[in-house]
Amino acid sequence: MLNYKQIIANKINAPLEKAELVSLITETADDAFGDYAFPCFKLAKVMRMSPVQISEKLAGEIELDDVVVKVEAVNGYLNFFVNRGSLINDVLNDIAKAGAKYGNDKVGKGKTVCIDYSSVNICKSFHIGHLSTTAIGSSLYKLYTALGYKVVGINHLGDYGTQFGKMIVAFKLWGDRATVEREGVKELQRIYVKFHQEEVNHPELTEQAREWFVRIERGDPEAQELFEFFKRITLHEVMDIYARLNVKFDSWNGESFFNDKMDKPLQMLRDKGLITESQGAQVVDLKDYNMPPCLLVKSDGSSLYATRDIAAAIWRKNEYDFDKCLYVVAYQQNLHFKQFFKVLELAGLTWAQDLVHVAFGMVSLEDGSMSTRKGNVVLLRDVIDKAVAKSLEIITEKNPNLPNKEKVAEQVGVGAVLFSALENSKIKDITFTFDRVLNFDGETAPYLQYTTARCNSLLEKAGAWKKSKVAADLRALDNAETLRLCKLLAAFPQAVKDAAFKYEPSIVSALLIDIAQAFNRFYIEHRVISDNVAEQNARLQVVEATGTVLKKGLSLLGIESPEKM
Ligand code: ARG
Repeated sequence: MLNYKQIIANKINAPLEKAELVSLITETADDAFGDYAFPCFKLAKVMRMSPVQISEKLAGEIELDDVVVKVEAVNGYLNFFVNRGSLINDVLNDIAKAGAKYGNDKVGKGKTVCIDYSSVNICKSFHIGHLSTTAIGSSLYKLYTALGYKVVGINHLGDYGTQFGKMIVAFKLWGDRATVEREGVKELQRIYVKFHQEEVNHPELTEQAREWFVRIERGDPEAQELFEFFKRITLHEVMDIYARLNVKFDSWNGESFFNDKMDKPLQMLRDKGLITESQGAQVVDLKDYNMPPCLLVKSDGSSLYATRDIAAAIWRKNEYDFDKCLYVVAYQQNLHFKQFFKVLELAGLTWAQDLVHVAFGMVSLEDGSMSTRKGNVVLLRDVIDKAVAKSLEIITEKNPNLPNKEKVAEQVGVGAVLFSALENSKIKDITFTFDRVLNFDGETAPYLQYTTARCNSLLEKAGAWKKSKVAADLRALDNAETLRLCKLLAAFPQAVKDAAFKYEPSIVSALLIDIAQAFNRFYIEHRVISDNVAEQNARLQVVEATGTVLKKGLSLLGIESPEKM
């Protein structure tokens, strides 16, 4: 397939990086203004001319050929006209040939990306606050895989800390296995809260908790066994959700895995003269970088979150030799990542520049019920269950005879929830509203799934069209709606790369929405199933290509597409 944006970028003689040129080029919404547009505004400063003058100058330098047939300078934009017939033809052929591999690439061949995401905390409930890290991380996993990278998904479990000493004391006093087995993390949380209430009047509890924590650290069998029990209970609940969300991990090495792996890194930092004492604690001073010191060893000798992350980064580099290591974690932890990245950089580890904090905003429910201050967490499982139940209602109303309704409702409900975390630029805070994410006509996953199913059903109606001997009449594709749609389909491979390299799955989701809308316009304007078989065959190619791309795009977001809806 010709990469039109790339070809156009190569023709523009402007002082900008090629990749940036490419990313500035957009499909025009109105084909009277050409097919692709390049805005010259960014160049005004460097080129010391007005955007209008720049566009005129650049337009004069463009070499035309059979691919790019015309260029116009209009109000500071360069508008390019390409050979439309070949664009449509090429993209349809390309998608037909690649099928589910459309958008895949080899750029990542031989390279490894680690993605630290979802990273749950043992004994804590899995709530809606974990949705974004799980959805974004999982989508990045799929995007990088499609680009040929070896991907290592890491669930950096929160399985270390004094709170586990408290859990053991609480469990011994007020817990029992049968109830915990039955009620799960909810019960663990209940006794944990009770511990904190009781602790106020019974300071000996605090001391006992400290002792149990030390016993966990020393590997005392009883302490270990209880801790493993809590871990099993927590992971059992989380696994169920991961299975429903189609989320996978290759490593579960969490904080405790690094218990015995911190000495060497600490020694290395000491040898490099980076560690200073401060009130009995060991810290790396980061004043020169406008950050508070990075605390690595407390005065009682215990390690911290940052110590473990430093050890983990070094371990991952040795183990996987990654080209990039991503941390998909909320922006609340910005400082933590900036600090420990800086420590590694100061230690002279050049690969520290390959560590990326992929930060994102907060999710809350419309009634504000996520506020942890009020203490009422909303479980992710409950949100998914409710979305699935509502989907089932909608589907039953729209299509009462649909086979496998429950399965479809699961795919739609789960898709809607995932999409809500993937539709906007990830740094935005989002408010989750069931009615909005489940709106079949809105900019939602159900809308994309519904459009994909519409493609399937058209192809099914046409039956054995591929075997028909009648050649497609390509004149049936010579119209604005088909052109617009095909341009968007052609943009998909680049969107996959942009989404991966900018850590922004919303680039794919936004394109899919555009594609679905363009498809529905095409579908309203042009009858697909008709007596004119030559025309029909041409349009069915468009339908099939659209279905292929929507399905592929959804899969890169971790969302399934039901055959029928
Ligand atoms: N468990 C942590 C939390 O819930 C997230 C861990 C993220 N990964 C990391 N390597 N620090 O806040």
